[in-house]
Amino acid sequence: MSALGNNALVAVIGAGAMGAGIAQVAAQAGHPVKLYDNRPGAAAEAVAGIDRQLGRLVEKGKLQPAARESIRARLQPVEAIEALADARLVIEAIVENLEVKQGLFLQLEALCADNCILASNTSSLSITSLAAGLKRPQQVIGMHFFNPAPLMALVEIVSGLATDPALAVSLYETAKAWGKLPVHTRSTPGFIVNRVARPFYAESLRLLQEGAADCATLDALLREAGGFRMGAFELTDLIGHDVNYAVTCSVFNAFYGDFRFQPSLVQKELVDAGRLGRKSGQGFYCYGEGAESPQPTQLQSHESVDSCVIEGDLGIVQGLAERLRGAGIAVSERAGRGLIQVGDAVIALSDGRLASQRAREDGLRNLVLIDLALDYRTASRIAITWSADTTPVARDQAVALLQRAGLAVSAVADLPGLVVLRTVAMLANEAADAVLHGVGSAADIDLAMCAGVNYPRGPLAWAQQLGAGYTLRVLEHLERSYGESRYRPSLWLRRKNAQGATLDE
Ligand code: NAI
Repeated sequence: MSALGNNALVAVIGAGAMGAGIAQVAAQAGHPVKLYDNRPGAAAEAVAGIDRQLGRLVEKGKLQPAARESIRARLQPVEAIEALADARLVIEAIVENLEVKQGLFLQLEALCADNCILASNTSSLSITSLAAGLKRPQQVIGMHFFNPAPLMALVEIVSGLATDPALAVSLYETAKAWGKLPVHTRSTPGFIVNRVARPFYAESLRLLQEGAADCATLDALLREAGGFRMGAFELTDLIGHDVNYAVTCSVFNAFYGDFRFQPSLVQKELVDAGRLGRKSGQGFYCYGEGAESPQPTQLQSHESVDSCVIEGDLGIVQGLAERLRGAGIAVSERAGRGLIQVGDAVIALSDGRLASQRAREDGLRNLVLIDLALDYRTASRIAITWSADTTPVARDQAVALLQRAGLAVSAVADLPGLVVLRTVAMLANEAADAVLHGVGSAADIDLAMCAGVNYPRGPLAWAQQLGAGYTLRVLEHLERSYGESRYRPSLWLRRKNAQGATLDE
């Protein structure tokens, strides 16, 4: 089935942030659009707001004045739901409540033509449940846009148990014709993005709870080493802790209390205190007038180093060696286990074990572990931790070397997998489980995480770059350290690793 022709009437119900954005997208794509809200005047206000947005695009030279006029002419606010009877596609973006949405769909089924598509923009409700009780459940589908809809490319096309597969293909093509990046997914808790993203928040919350470092340092590491646009604390402050915590609880409950999705007591405290983030003036950070942004901590070294020895193949850390050479460090090489020797110190990439444990198990004296970076050639900061018996001089020598490479060095407590590594490993693990459970293809899941939440690399492509075997080892070490099922590696990752297969299919 192909995309809907752009003469097909699109009705959008709910003229809030999402409904207005979706109406704008459909009208910009050339469809006649009717916008309805049960609050009198809300649809007309939203259309006026869209017109102002279009006006800004005209001012910036991104839209012709004539195009603005024709888009505006295609947008019709209506005050009665009966005016939507001739719609070919209805997208609802009303309040997130199952009973209310079911009631609306019952009403629409009676009102609209038999071939009318009933789509929901729900973030968390089951499409299967929304369709249950309707005469034509095969016509019901999820079309999950991201906020703000005109700017965010991703649309999750969500099929419920009864959804007609041809309809999913048609809406996928329609979203593409609207300039979006659609992905197919099934009606499972959190769909793709709100499921796979959970560890991004959860690992930082846990690191904070366990005293790894302060919020500003953990955020800076995810940004400056991990390449994420924002750290988990600044991002949840922006989303609102009430919203983010509710999504986590809803996914956790929907999975019958699977510990992989366990909500955080640290975040619950914030919600209980009314510290909801930016919107309430305080969350992890303060936003009041004159509030100062806390700065990440970083180590200063009293040592000076001008040479190091690279032992064996550094693998994904190779970019650091290039950087050291570029900084004028005399780098010599010899066979070994993929380590950097500097002065008394041995620097190694974390493999998910505690530094003290690895030092003992592998017989490494003065061990300093470094965290994962998205790109060691360009990262501006790196986390380190060290074994309990590492001397202060050895640690300072390691810090001095990393600083010579131009890296700010932040200390974190000796916890398994440091910050970026454990976050990426857990994101990849969740993505792997989502593939295993048929929630989406590996390619669609990676695309969804890049286009929907701006990850710098898809979690599975990242795990592929790290190596399936290494990613699996990190997870096994996390699982062993914590003794919790939360860190259990996905069977899909194990199977791919056993098969020697790539993670992109
Ligand atoms: P909102 O609160 O800004 O807007 C909802 C609008 O729906 C309001 O204008 C309200 O008057 C209207 N409304 C409520 N019940 C109605 C009914 N029975 N009939 C007609 N109109 C009704 O909410 P928002 O943020 O736009 O969310 C709407 C939907 O989109 C929810 O299902 C939400 O889960 C989903 N969503 C929200 C995202 C977000 O970031 N805000 C992102 C993706 C999906």
